[in-house]
Amino acid sequence: MNYLYQRHFLRLLDFSDIELENIIILSEKLKKIKKNNQEIQLLKKKNIALIFEKESTRTRCSFEIAAFDQGAHVTYLGPGSTHLGTKESIEDTAKVLSRLYDGIEYRGHNHEVIETLAKYSNVPVWNGLTEKFHPTQIIADLLTMKEVFPKKQFFEIKCAYVGDSHNNIANTLLEAASILGIDLRLISPKKYWPEKNILSLCQEKSKKNKKQIICTENIEEGIKNVDFIYTDVWVSMGEPEKTWKEKIKLLKNYQVNQNMIDMTNNPSVKVLHCLPALHDQKNIIVKSILKEYNLQDGIEITDNIFQKNQGIIFEQAENRLHTIKAILISSLIKTINL
Ligand code: CP
Ligand code: NVA
Repeated sequence: MNYLYQRHFLRLLDFSDIELENIIILSEKLKKIKKNNQEIQLLKKKNIALIFEKESTRTRCSFEIAAFDQGAHVTYLGPGSTHLGTKESIEDTAKVLSRLYDGIEYRGHNHEVIETLAKYSNVPVWNGLTEKFHPTQIIADLLTMKEVFPKKQFFEIKCAYVGDSHNNIANTLLEAASILGIDLRLISPKKYWPEKNILSLCQEKSKKNKKQIICTENIEEGIKNVDFIYTDVWVSMGEPEKTWKEKIKLLKNYQVNQNMIDMTNNPSVKVLHCLPALHDQKNIIVKSILKEYNLQDGIEITDNIFQKNQGIIFEQAENRLHTIKAILISSLIKTINL
């Protein structure tokens, strides 16, 4: 039985541990099938709307390729290209799109928009990132963790998230950890800890699983013996430019660098990053920020640590495709025979 059929995919707390694990198992299957050039198209004649109110490389491309591989068609609606929320209410747009399409992906600024879209849509709505959550990303990260430790259960994994723990990646990792029993430590200055309501909901859930999720400002305390260190940009899409000043001041000690790796006491610790990453001077943002704030090497992660972990980081990026494909199939196909 496919319990995800016709359900929205807005945040991970809407799902059980078994449901998340089933998506990951299906993703593994689909990854193998694609590598063996044996794609079986389950989404023929399906039409998918992709609404992006923010930029994207991985998420857009993964949704498009997943759809194409599976025989579905997509319409890309980029920033400012629909009437959504301006000339037309979110409710009316949802009603129109769900008469035309079999599913709607939405990336935007405000999580309430996707909740309203979902409320009035008769077809599944998938969250391609809001300021609060990025659930398709974390499913890809869970697959990546499982590939690193094929014999471990999620409740045997220890993960530290370092940097801005108030953002969409941290919130979603927090939800995943609470459902699956991952030992998660969020390491940031108190100002950037997650919102109280999300944190306490997840901590309670985690306690029920006899597990613990901690927030700490103390890097040494949080990082010891972890299997993974996960980090993300310090300033997320949609945050004003001026945020950099304060973030750099408060977060500069939370950069993932060799010193932090040494503190784990685990020579085989792996570093995860959802990308895009500000690790070298090959992009405009890093160049200007390093210069303005007199920083030497990378922002949230040094180039040295990024390069050492690029194998796993780019695997995370590739896994976006396989996991998004699994989510599309699970939402749109009642009985999956693969
Ligand atoms: N990680 C991620 O969501 O990347 P994009 O912003 O490129 O989609
Ligand atoms: N926190 C980042 C994630 C990008 C994938 C952002 O929202 O910009």
